[in-house]
Amino acid sequence: METGQVAAGSSAGVTNARYDRRGLDRRRTGQPLVSVVIPTYNEAENIPILVRRLEQALADLDYELIVVDDDSPDLTWQIADELTQAQPRLRVLRRTDARGLSSAVMAGFGIARGRTLAVLDADLQHDERILPELIGAIVDDGADIAVGSREADGGSYGEFGPWRRTVSWTGAQLARFMLRTPVNDPMSGFFVVSRARYDEVVDKVNPKGFKILLEFLATGTPPSVTEVGFKFGQRLHGATKLTGSVIVAYLMALLELAGGRFVTARFSAYAIVGMSGVVVRALVLVGLSLIADARATWWLAIEAAVLWNYWWNNRFTFNAYRQRGRQSIVGLAKFHAVAAHGVLVATATQSLVADLIGSESLLTVGVAATVGLGLATVGNYHLNRSITWQALPA
Ligand code: GDD
Ligand code: MN
Repeated sequence: METGQVAAGSSAGVTNARYDRRGLDRRRTGQPLVSVVIPTYNEAENIPILVRRLEQALADLDYELIVVDDDSPDLTWQIADELTQAQPRLRVLRRTDARGLSSAVMAGFGIARGRTLAVLDADLQHDERILPELIGAIVDDGADIAVGSREADGGSYGEFGPWRRTVSWTGAQLARFMLRTPVNDPMSGFFVVSRARYDEVVDKVNPKGFKILLEFLATGTPPSVTEVGFKFGQRLHGATKLTGSVIVAYLMALLELAGGRFVTARFSAYAIVGMSGVVVRALVLVGLSLIADARATWWLAIEAAVLWNYWWNNRFTFNAYRQRGRQSIVGLAKFHAVAAHGVLVATATQSLVADLIGSESLLTVGVAATVGLGLATVGNYHLNRSITWQALPA
């Protein structure tokens, strides 16, 4: 632990002294060909196996390995540090004041010295044997980014269950839709970037959540990308950290990439939920009108949409402030009050605008209704943010 451990942020002391004394590889090329960053959180059992496999896969190359551990309770950082005795190319960065996959990767890249910068998961799900090909795509063929891809020739999702497959697929579709560079597996956590690309985007990336590759793809000028297939392996030890909240964070980050310049991701999420509520209301209206009387149907449809909107805003838009149990009963009551206020604002604005235009054409009604709905959405968003969820401004 003595040699490798440092507090996050200070790069002094990070350097494993033995590395420099031996002058490994640096003598030959000035800098290693590749720095492989391995983010870890509770990977104590996997990290010794991975380091051994990387030594084999990279045997002919100048490389360095950087483990970035967020102070894992299972002491991954300590196990990794013990490995530096036998492997001086390995350095360990132990962060005690930060957490998160993307920020860990950026911290590792920040202290890396390689001509190319690679990242792969510690849990042996990424096939390290394709690393030389990924590196070659950059140094020999001039790509900016080389992606270990489950969607390229020879690639597959392995034993992924239907749920994880759907999550990955949906995330990839959304990302593809928003990227200017077509990439088949933009969700991959296994990739190599050139130092030039890293330098171009380093100050602009937003290191939140799990979508670090997306940042490298979407920021700056469109990069040239090569994908190399690999079969996604089974996790041997430990558990995944990709939970529901991580998926929500990913969706929010996509919204920020898409519209962040104009409105906040949170507002985009709120607006999307609102639009889905309109659809729900229409469906309930049609469905119930077959069996119930018109007046009851009208109210039931509104109530269904309000419940729907509350649930999704609670789970998605304001996920960080999610209400559970009794809290959500109070939250739901407030949400109803705000919704009622929204209906008033929308109808009042609509008739005001219609009066101002002074005609009763369909176009006028449409414009007036849209203005009313827009105003109510913006107003309700702010009311729900401050009153219902009491969220910090964003
Ligand atoms: N330092 C650090 N801090 N490392 C972390 C953290 C963190 O907060 N969270 C996860 N990691 C490490 C894990 O220890 C592992 O080495 C790697 O990041 C990936 O985490 P997993 O929890 O195994 O993720 P996954 O297998 O569910 O997700 C993989 O596939 C996704 C696409 O399907 C990853 O490769 C993702 O990057 C990828 O988007
Ligand atoms: Mn994994």
